[in-house]
Amino acid sequence: MQWIKVLNSFDLPKENDIKTISANGKQLCVINDASKIYVTQSICPHAGGHFSGGWCKNGHLICPIHRYAYSLENGRGAEGQGDYINIYPTEIRKDGLYVGFQKSWLSKIFG
Ligand code: FES
Repeated sequence: MQWIKVLNSFDLPKENDIKTISANGKQLCVINDASKIYVTQSICPHAGGHFSGGWCKNGHLICPIHRYAYSLENGRGAEGQGDYINIYPTEIRKDGLYVGFQKSWLSKIFG
């Protein structure tokens, strides 16, 4: 796992807010739901909606386009959707928010 700093502490989203960031070549959403920080992919797998305009409800991220719901704990779509989103591991350290990325098989071979 490779940990990358993505935001300074003072840049963390406020409660119930969603911020879009770029890290490790990916666009991601940083979400503050009930004072807990989550980092997810930014694009909805249903039809490409952007989660930055979405909101949280009962521990789920709601896509603003067709209101599909995704668990913020495990990324699973609500019953009947049959899809999921990537949820990235996070750590709040003294100097800010870090996100953990799996190393690709190429970097495992070539360093
Ligand atoms: S694009 Fe997200 S629910 Fe349809």
